[in-house]
Amino acid sequence: MNYLSNLKNKPIDPILGLTVLFHEDTRPNKVNLGIGAYKSEDGEVVLFQSVHEAERYLWEEKRSKSYLPIDGDIVFKEEILKLIYGQYDPKTHFCAHTAGCTAALKVSGNILTSMGIQTIYLPDLTWQNHYLLYSMSGLKTETYPYFDLEKKTLRLTEILEVLKNAPENSAVLMQVGCHNPVGRDPNEEEWEAITNLIAEKNLFPILDCAYQGFGDGFTEDAYPIRLYSSKFSQYFLCYSFSKNFGLYGERVGAFFGIDKTGQFIDKLRDNTKHFIRGAYSSPGIHGSRIIKTILQSSELKASWEEELSEMQKRLRSLRCHFVEKLKASGISRNYDYIQKDKGLFSLMGLSKEQVIKLRENFGVYIVENSRINIAALSMANLDYVVDAIKQILN
Ligand code: LMR
Repeated sequence: MNYLSNLKNKPIDPILGLTVLFHEDTRPNKVNLGIGAYKSEDGEVVLFQSVHEAERYLWEEKRSKSYLPIDGDIVFKEEILKLIYGQYDPKTHFCAHTAGCTAALKVSGNILTSMGIQTIYLPDLTWQNHYLLYSMSGLKTETYPYFDLEKKTLRLTEILEVLKNAPENSAVLMQVGCHNPVGRDPNEEEWEAITNLIAEKNLFPILDCAYQGFGDGFTEDAYPIRLYSSKFSQYFLCYSFSKNFGLYGERVGAFFGIDKTGQFIDKLRDNTKHFIRGAYSSPGIHGSRIIKTILQSSELKASWEEELSEMQKRLRSLRCHFVEKLKASGISRNYDYIQKDKGLFSLMGLSKEQVIKLRENFGVYIVENSRINIAALSMANLDYVVDAIKQILN
């Protein structure tokens, strides 16, 4: 019996698989607008200066690389709880350092299943990995409509309709901001309406926050977190430090469990540790040390805040330049909405065939759902990208 022959084929990952194809492409003018990483004008994924300084300090300190506790370093956890929640009560706020936000989402799925939740509602569209993570945790994945790509508006009535009919024992995931892949978030009124319904229907709320600081500013972007904190006595927050500290490959994320009753925090901690230990044992040490060093130094923290805010501003101006160039190229399609979108992503409204043509004929890589990473555009590649899109649309 050849056991390996039992394996079934699996699809190539729509985002990371694209990076593999990109590296295999030998054309010098190729452009990777696929994976969500912030790049500078020179096309390199940015290393924050504050991160570099923190690394220098850590190198000089010459500390060992011993194992971290299952749920991470205690001081790091205190620092990130302060960063995200300001004043917080440790009896009602639990946090675990996870291997990226991906592990936080996976842990949240395992815990939801253990809580008796059967179904999770995800926005349609969403980050494709949400489906994999939650279905592998034993949950049924359902969707709520998210955005009207024609009218460029949130599909609020339909969102409310679907969630109103969600069965008991369901959870609802909302992205905090800079929606991946749409680039558009609910406004405050829409957030309020959705949140009220989730509370009324007693659905379990989960926030996924991967881009804090890239929308309107670090504090402004946390509006949904403040809203959830005011409306729900229990909810989860899965958080990524990949983008806002530029620590992608260091895999630093966090799983936050809020229980205002304080009754279940210990159980939540034990369950989280159980699932982490059974998956990857404990998180990596270097990324959390970098963040802890930055947050504990007023100088480094100020420099990190400044760098993040510069990136947010540059993204805005890249969006303007991109739309101007698209208009000036004579493309008849209206791309003005890209200027209103926030964060790293916007949808180009291209068919799968057009996306493939863009890649095969021009070496311009975007995700199959036509998501483009604005943060990988630069003055050097803008004309080439716009011209390629123009040719695809003709
Ligand atoms: C993305 O959406 O491109 C990033 O979150 C990277 C990833 O893991 O997919």
